[in-house]
Formats: sequence, structure tokens, C-alpha cells
Amino acid sequence: MFFISLLLAVLSLQRHAALALSPQFIDCQLQKSANVSPLSGCPQGTIFVSQTDKRAAFTSIQAAVESLPPTGDAIILIGQGVYQEIVNVSRTAPLTLLGQLPSSARAKLSQPFANATSANLNLVQVFGTVFDVTGQDDDTTAVLTVAPNAPGALIGAGTDGAPLQPVFGNVDFKAYNIDWQNRAANFAISQALVTDISYSNASFYGCSFASYQDTWYTGRNASTYVVDSVIFGQTDYLFGFGTAWFQNVILANRACGGGLVAWKGNNQTFAPGNRYGAYISDSQVIRSPEANATTVTTGKCFLGRPWNDDAITVYLNTFMDASINAVGFIPFDSARPVIMNTTFYAEFNSTGKWLSSSQFSLFIIPFVQTGPGGNTSGRTPVEHILNATTLAAGDFTIDGVFLEHPQWIDFDYLF
Ligand SMILES: *[C@@H]1O[C@H](CO)[C@@H](O)[C@H](O)[C@H]1NC(C)=O
Ligand SMILES: *[C@@H]1O[C@H](CO)[C@@H](O)[C@H](O)[C@H]1NC(C)=O
Ligand SMILES: *[C@@H]1O[C@H](CO)[C@@H](O)[C@H](O)[C@H]1NC(C)=O
Ligand SMILES: *[C@@H]1O[C@H](CO)[C@@H](O)[C@H](O)[C@H]1NC(C)=O
Ligand SMILES: *[C@@H]1O[C@H](CO)[C@@H](O)[C@H](O)[C@H]1NC(C)=O
Ligand SMILES: *[C@@H]1O[C@H](CO)[C@@H](O)[C@H](O)[C@H]1NC(C)=O
Ligand SMILES: *[C@@H]1O[C@H](CO)[C@@H](O)[C@H](O)[C@H]1NC(C)=O
Ligand SMILES: *[C@@H]1O[C@H](CO)[C@@H](O)[C@H](O)[C@H]1NC(C)=O
Ligand SMILES: *[C@@H]1O[C@H](CO)[C@@H](O)[C@H](O)[C@H]1NC(C)=O
Ligand SMILES: *[C@@H]1O[C@H](CO)[C@@H](O)[C@H](O)[C@H]1NC(C)=O
Repeated sequence: MFFISLLLAVLSLQRHAALALSPQFIDCQLQKSANVSPLSGCPQGTIFVSQTDKRAAFTSIQAAVESLPPTGDAIILIGQGVYQEIVNVSRTAPLTLLGQLPSSARAKLSQPFANATSANLNLVQVFGTVFDVTGQDDDTTAVLTVAPNAPGALIGAGTDGAPLQPVFGNVDFKAYNIDWQNRAANFAISQALVTDISYSNASFYGCSFASYQDTWYTGRNASTYVVDSVIFGQTDYLFGFGTAWFQNVILANRACGGGLVAWKGNNQTFAPGNRYGAYISDSQVIRSPEANATTVTTGKCFLGRPWNDDAITVYLNTFMDASINAVGFIPFDSARPVIMNTTFYAEFNSTGKWLSSSQFSLFIIPFVQTGPGGNTSGRTPVEHILNATTLAAGDFTIDGVFLEHPQWIDFDYLF
């Protein structure tokens, strides 16, 4: 009885539920035997991309994207492979990209996808190798661009970045089980983006995103949602202007530099009612298991720095390991040495409670690890720590920050 209640206590500490999949798409995503159409189980009209399978309509993802008519929902199934290409989505109508999964995945779905070790079930990788050079906009480096047009993809500099565009791009972009990588270098060579999602609504399920500097970008007027995924980076590796919710993600520090999040906000005069910001919920911030062994991270990574003074960054129920510096957030740089009071940084229930898999055993009395990064007593100012009252007042929920219950998020995805 003692062990059963102990086991139940242990299981309740496990961060994730028992399944990680899209009930809607899993039959389409699983690889089939050679005599079965790869599109069996897929919604009608799904387009198949493969570098090797003769039954594919296209050998590159971008060729399939460019074949799409301007209107109507579209789904593209991407066969197993490593694709070196830039994916650029400018259509406004809904588009879903599905990565193939091994047929064995069905049996392994009792694990969450998000796992920062090299092992995950995804069979599709998409990579680019471009990094920023002086004089170019960072947008030229993105592996995946979802934006209405070239001016809309621009990032720019200064308080407000590139000029605001009067257009909107994709209303519902989704990607499932794809590993996106910028392989420009195995260190922070310069800005080397994985995503540029601007003036669009986009969501990602069971994906990973890997670079060093500026991995993830949610641009102006964009709303993004990432769940059960891993994001690898070093410097400012979540950055942007828009509203971004990260749910059950692993933020894997390959090294430390700048801040983890570097956001730009807008004041309420300029954009009344806006909740632009980065919101990280039920997630983990850890040293990446694949970080170079010679790289020191302990106490050297910061949760964020304000790209402009209206930045909003909130961590909810998130585990933080020893790579997080006790003060949490830092000023942008020596030219802007103070975090202004218009910047909103907050944490709720940052924790070190986590059970490592080696401790997950019936026969060894399990114990809870404490992540030193979750010790918030050194944070300045202390108002950055939310309590139940200020948490509720802030309405830091998905519906709260997107100002509606977003129709473009797949809430049926299990994680
Ligand atoms: C992550 O993957 C590693 C290697 O396959 C495995 O040992 C570990 O249990 C996994 N972690 C979780 C939380 O599933
Ligand atoms: C993406 O496509 C749009 C529309 O065709 C084009 O204007 C833009 O330059 C493209 N961006 C990239 C990075 O190729
Ligand atoms: C983009 O956001 C600005 C405020 O930040 C707003 O004035 C504008 O209408 C929005 N544009 C679109 C196309 O949604
Ligand atoms: C609000 O933001 C706009 C755009 O960045 C800026 O021009 C304006 O001065 C700001 N207003 C206040 C009161 O800070
Ligand atoms: C790890 O870092 C060391 C020192 O900077 C470097 O010499 C080595 O090439 C790196 N290893 C890898 C695999 O990147
Ligand atoms: C704090 O976070 C832990 C781990 O995510 C969670 O189990 C617990 O319920 C949270 N506590 C509150 C008060 O939300
Ligand atoms: C913010 O700081 C300014 C001075 O930089 C001060 O005038 C203002 O009262 C402060 N606002 C709050 C809410 O503390
Ligand atoms: C928590 O952090 C404070 C200030 O950084 C430090 O004094 C204290 O020893 C830490 N507590 C633990 C349990 O590590
Ligand atoms: C919650 O935090 C706010 C702001 O720091 C503070 O005014 C309030 O007294 C706190 N409430 C509780 C119950 O601790
Ligand atoms: C994009 O998402 C936001 C937040 O959910 C929503 O308010 C907006 O209407 C959406 N835009 C379009 C064009 O669907």
C-alpha cells in the first residue's frame, strides 16, 4: 500500500499526460507498408512529398506549398527524410504540414514527444544554413517563413522594428512532428533563425526548433502557439513582437548569452488592449543534454532581457535548472542598463521539482530534485513573482492573452 501510494505520488509529479499525438492526423502520419498508399488514413486531398517514394507529387516541401491554390484548406504529408530547403508560406488560407512518424510510434505514444535528448520519433527534418551578415535583415536566415509578403517578413531594428504592414498572412498554419533546424554553425555565429512568423496565426505540435541565436521569432501582429516541443538555443532564442504561448515545451540552453527571451511590446496607447508578449507555461528550462561538454552554463543563463521597454515575458509553473542565474532577468545591454517599469516580467510557481527518469523506479524510493534555477528569492524586483491573486488578475491564460478562444489552435492534440 505504501509503495502504491508512493507510486501514485510519483506519477502525479510527471509533467505530461499519457499520450502525445494528434488523434485527427495520427493515422495519416504513420508510415505504411510498401503496398499501402502513404496517403491512406489522410484527409481527402492531402498532398504527399517525398524525396524517395515515386508516389509522391513533389520531392520538396516548398514545391508542394507553391502548388497550392490561393484559397481552400490544404494538408501536406511529408515523407521521412532530411530536407535542406527554405519553406516560405505566403498563402492566407489554412495550411497543415504533417511529418511522417514510424509505424512503431503508435506503441510508444505513452511518452510525451518533447524530449531534449537526441531521441525523438520524428522522421522529418528540415534545415537551412543561412546566418545573418551585416546589412541584411535577420529574416533572410529563417528556415520557415510564414508571412504575407517580403515587407511583412522583415524584422528591422529599434523600438518598433520594420514598418507596420496593412496586411495579414496565414490565418491558420499548423505543423506536426517536424524537426526544424538552422545548421549555420554549431555555435552562435550571428542571428540564425529557424522561424519567422509574421502577421499570421500559427501553431506547432511535437516539433523541435534548433539554432543558437534567435531560434524562434513571432513577428508583428502574429499569434503563435507551440506545444509538446523542444526549442534549442543560446542567445535571445525566443524573440519577437507578437503574442506567443509556449505550452509544455523544453527550452534547452546549448550555452548562455543575452537572455532566453528578448521580446518587444507595444504600449496600450499604440495598440489598445494588446497582450503582446511571450508566455511560457508548464515547461522546462534546462541545460541542453547535447550542449558541448566544455560549455559552462551553471548560473549563466537569464530568463530574459527586454528588447524594448514594453516587453512582456511570463513564466508559469516552469521548472528551471541550475543554468538559470538567480536574478532571473537582466537589462538589455550597457546602453540600456535599467529594466524600465513599463517592462513586465513575471513568474508564477517556478519550480525545481522534477523527477529524473533514473529515479523513476518502484524499488528505489524516489525523491524530488530541486532545480536551483527555480529558487526565486534572488529575483529583482520581487514584484516579478506573481501570487495567486496577481496571477488571476493578470488572466495569464491562453484565452486571456489571445483575447479569445483561438480557433486556429488544435486543442484536441494530446500531450
Ligand atoms: C527522453 O529520451 C531518453 C532517451 O531515449 C529516455 O531515456 C528518457 O526517458 C526520455 N525522457 C522522457 C521524459 O520521456
Ligand atoms: C516568400 O514568398 C513571398 C511571396 O512569393 C515573397 O515575396 C518572399 O520574398 C519570399 N520570401 C523568401 C524568404 O523567399
Ligand atoms: C496590426 O497591429 C496594429 C497594432 O499593433 C494594428 O493597428 C493593425 O490594425 C494590425 N494590423 C493587422 C493587419 O491586423
Ligand atoms: C507608445 O508607443 C508608441 C510607438 O512605439 C510611441 O510612439 C509612443 O510615444 C508611446 N507612448 C507612450 C505614452 O509611451
Ligand atoms: C566544443 O567546444 C570546444 C571549445 O570551444 C571546441 O573546440 C569543440 O570543437 C566543440 N565541440 C563540438 C562538438 O562542437
Ligand atoms: C506548481 O507547478 C507544479 C509543477 O508544474 C504543479 O504540479 C503545481 O500544481 C503548481 N502549483 C500551483 C499552485 O499551480
Ligand atoms: C515608472 O518610472 C517612472 C520614472 O522613470 C515614474 O515616473 C513612474 O511613476 C513609474 N511608474 C510606476 C507605476 O511605478
Ligand atoms: C535561494 O537563493 C537565495 C538568494 O540567491 C540564496 O541565499 C539561498 O541560499 C537559496 N536557497 C537555496 C535552497 O538554494
Ligand atoms: C500578491 O502580490 C501583490 C503584489 O505584489 C501584493 O500586493 C499582495 O498583497 C499579494 N497577495 C498575497 C495574498 O500575498
Ligand atoms: C489570429 O488570431 C487572433 C488571436 O486568436 C485573432 O484575434 C485573429 O482574429 C486571428 N486573425 C485572423 C485573420 O484569423
